[in-house]
Amino acid sequence: VSGARVAVLGATGRLGRRVVAGVLAAPDLSLVAAFARGGRGVDAGLLAGGAPCGVAVSAPGDGPAADVVIDVSLPGGLQELGGWLGVAAIVSGVTGQDAAGVAWLDAHATRAPVLVAANFSLGVAVLADLVARATAALPDHDVEIIEAHHRHKRDAPSGTALLLAAAAGGAPMTFGRSGHSEGRAAGIAVHAVRGGDIVGEHQVWLCGEGERLLLGHTATSRDTFAAGAVRAARWVVGRPPGRYQLAQVLGLSTQG
Ligand SMILES: NC(=O)c1ccc[n+]([C@@H]2O[C@H](COP(=O)([O-])OP(=O)(O)OC[C@H]3O[C@@H](n4cnc5c(N)ncnc54)[C@H](OP(=O)(O)O)[C@@H]3O)[C@@H](O)[C@H]2O)c1
Repeated sequence: VSGARVAVLGATGRLGRRVVAGVLAAPDLSLVAAFARGGRGVDAGLLAGGAPCGVAVSAPGDGPAADVVIDVSLPGGLQELGGWLGVAAIVSGVTGQDAAGVAWLDAHATRAPVLVAANFSLGVAVLADLVARATAALPDHDVEIIEAHHRHKRDAPSGTALLLAAAAGGAPMTFGRSGHSEGRAAGIAVHAVRGGDIVGEHQVWLCGEGERLLLGHTATSRDTFAAGAVRAARWVVGRPPGRYQLAQVLGLSTQG
């Protein structure tokens, strides 16, 4: 084993397979474990579309120790690692965590570095930065966020839409819209589109009198998320316990 030892949780998933490929391609990282509840015994490298790597998919927590676990499973996945986790660093891209999941991550962050990112792509981190600047400069414009994802996505709106709402200076006040009203309610509105194989699309509309400013990002491949996750894993190993953000990895000022 050379370099930091990495475990991937959710290794058989759409994103997990790309993360496995990214870790295997990184000369300074070693894949030591590939966890999922199903698919056991299958070589993780083969599953990721490459050559066999000698690491078979195993049950969560059933594998050699790692320096960092990249979590691309679903809410509740990390808890299944049990005592195996020890003081390993966590890089989690899982969205839709409930309060108990957030509290669990906070508790681990007292023992180890924990980096959570609703979106691992560099472009979205830059978009969040632009949204913060644009909404600060145009405080009277109405903010509408539209996100689109594939038909299998479980959480709505996306964690990235919530991240962009926070960058716009507030929590979303309206999710979707139907029926009769006196007009637009104050605050940020978020609309979720689901269909087909859409990897991830986010638009932020700033609507004023006589003008609209449109900011947006389109992910065309999960490899953009995998690259960010690998970069974050490399960065987080060896840091003191605590919570970290992708923006710090990327050297950006605002949240990513
Ligand atoms: N941060 C980002 O940039 C980003 C980008 C895209 C997606 N995401 C998030 O990444 C996550 C995965 O998305 P996906 O589209 O790849 O989903 P997916 O295809 O459904 O994959 C989920 C993976 O997690 C495993 N898993 C599910 N529940 C588990 C549990 N309790 N314990 C251990 N493993 C478990 C699944 O295998 P088994 O069911 O066999 O266990 C599978 O390997 C979602 O939370 C999604 O929102 C984040």
